[in-house]
Amino acid sequence: MAYGLPYGMASRNVALCVLIIAFFRTSLGQTPPKSEILPEFLALLENHTVTQGRDVSFTCVVNHLQSYKVAWIKSDSRAILAIHTHMVAHNPRLSVTHNGHNTWKLHVTNVQPNDSGTYMCQVNTDPMRSQTGHMKVVIPPDIMDLDDTADMLTAKENGDLLLRCRATGNPEPVVVWRREDGRNITLRNENHTKQTARTFEGEQLHLRGIQRQEMGSYLCIASNGVPPSVSKRYKVNVRFKPLIKVSNQLVAAPVDSDVLLQCYVESSPKALNTWYRNNELPLKTSTSGIKLLKGDKHNISEVTINDYAYQLNLTVRRLDKSDFGTYTCSAENAFGKAEGSIRLQELHISKSTTVSTRNTEIIEKHTWRKQTEKKGKKYSYIHDKGELEIISKDVSHTTPMSRRNSSSLPNIANKSRISAFPAPAPAHLTPTHLGAQNGVKSSRDHTRSCYVYFAMVILVIFARN
Ligand SMILES: *[C@@H]1O[C@H](CO)[C@@H](O)[C@H](O)[C@H]1NC(C)=O
Ligand SMILES: *[C@@H]1O[C@H](CO)[C@@H](O)[C@H](O)[C@H]1NC(C)=O
Ligand SMILES: *[C@@H]1O[C@H](CO)[C@@H](O)[C@H](O)[C@H]1NC(C)=O
Ligand SMILES: *[C@@H]1O[C@H](CO)[C@@H](O)[C@H](O)[C@H]1NC(C)=O
Ligand SMILES: *[C@@H]1O[C@H](CO)[C@@H](O)[C@H](O)[C@H]1NC(C)=O
Ligand SMILES: *[C@@H]1O[C@H](CO)[C@@H](O)[C@H](O)[C@H]1NC(C)=O
Ligand SMILES: *[C@@H]1O[C@H](CO)[C@@H](O)[C@H](O)[C@H]1NC(C)=O
Ligand SMILES: *[C@@H]1O[C@H](CO)[C@@H](O)[C@H](O)[C@H]1NC(C)=O
Repeated sequence: MAYGLPYGMASRNVALCVLIIAFFRTSLGQTPPKSEILPEFLALLENHTVTQGRDVSFTCVVNHLQSYKVAWIKSDSRAILAIHTHMVAHNPRLSVTHNGHNTWKLHVTNVQPNDSGTYMCQVNTDPMRSQTGHMKVVIPPDIMDLDDTADMLTAKENGDLLLRCRATGNPEPVVVWRREDGRNITLRNENHTKQTARTFEGEQLHLRGIQRQEMGSYLCIASNGVPPSVSKRYKVNVRFKPLIKVSNQLVAAPVDSDVLLQCYVESSPKALNTWYRNNELPLKTSTSGIKLLKGDKHNISEVTINDYAYQLNLTVRRLDKSDFGTYTCSAENAFGKAEGSIRLQELHISKSTTVSTRNTEIIEKHTWRKQTEKKGKKYSYIHDKGELEIISKDVSHTTPMSRRNSSSLPNIANKSRISAFPAPAPAHLTPTHLGAQNGVKSSRDHTRSCYVYFAMVILVIFARN
């Protein structure tokens, strides 16, 4: 009989020694009477798959044990772990319990990788009887910290980035990459052939020819079926020279109104944004103008659209003659500078307002209306509650071709707005759009001249009657 008994261990305890000798004596030929019913196992020993650090136990159920003893043995190392409830192995994480009847349990606490293997529950009959169970120790995935991989990765636009993520665990984990915002990952091969996919599998994610849209957080997720899976976040930054887009390059507004001027900026790292006023030198495109500061006259604000794009707003309040001219928005970062300019024109309501009939909505109910034609130009006046209003819709579209026309024929607007930009819009010249859905109240003199006009018409009507 080979138990690989560690005698040195056993000798420490006389009682244990006697027990072991008894165990061997029995198994070495003290054949019990033939009539005796031999011990028998009632159930198979379990197999266990257990996560490192957890506790586990094997259960051995033996009937008709009589004076025989139950021992626990690690089969692969042939080490006796315990006999009855006495521990033989020097391992504080092992223990045996007996329910006083027919059940013995071997408990293993804080399971370690070297605990995996085959365990045997044995009874010292002759020949001995035994059964075995397997223990597999699994380890949840872990992501190693690679010194050369910072959490923050930066590349110039069109450059390359290599993201590395190595994971350990048992079984070997699978590493998958995805974007934190759920958008697809763009992958290019050596030939710059583009391909997108929601996920990419592998320890290395090579982002070639990276573009600004690909900026953002990337996650590497390691999993091996043993919970929990782990992930690591990589913040990818793409650096480039600022870009400015102005969708409303021409804005017209009457004296005394407030006007909103807007620029769309793409920049990484974030640019230093400035508004200038180049009234005196309208043709000069340089920024040699007066820098505008936030105050009663000008409100300056910016709103972030995404990682690299934002909108700049400049509100000029209570326009007076000196406010008309050219405004420039400028964005500058370490990679360069961009500018956009907007012309702000006065809108002369009584003299030069021109709207096409097609685009003019005239409110007929409870309004007093008069339409006159002079020198081929149409004027639409609506008198309502003592105030003169001109209501127009979609007055003009200033495409590059028509810009000159519309600049000589300013449009009506309380506040000109650009149509909202699609977030990561490709760089192209959006046709300028002067939205003027709102009516415009005239200044005081206009109201007065209207009253005169109104009175004259009433007189004419009376004279006719
Ligand atoms: C344990 O696994 C072994 C083979 O790996 C198998 O023969 C045995 O039936 C299993 N035991 C139980 C209780 O499932
Ligand atoms: C098993 O691993 C644990 C922890 O790593 C260690 O303390 C123990 O000595 C090892 N036991 C054996 C038999 O190698
Ligand atoms: C890339 O180009 C090389 C030669 O220019 C070619 O041999 C290779 O097949 C191409 N690879 C892909 C993925 O298209
Ligand atoms: C994202 O990638 C998946 C394949 O992984 C593809 O089916 C899907 O069309 C892609 N979506 C976009 C918006 O490109
Ligand atoms: C400036 O504009 C912002 C955003 O439109 C607004 O919240 C803020 O109150 C304005 N500031 C002043 C002084 O009007
Ligand atoms: C800029 O103006 C637009 C249009 O009025 C508005 O939606 C946006 O909130 C403004 N942004 C800021 C920062 O004031
Ligand atoms: C601009 O004006 C010119 C003549 O003044 C005219 O021929 C041309 O059609 C106009 N363009 C638009 C878009 O109205
Ligand atoms: C236009 O201005 C008038 C008075 O200044 C105001 O009553 C009206 O609400 C404004 N319209 C819009 C759309 O802002």
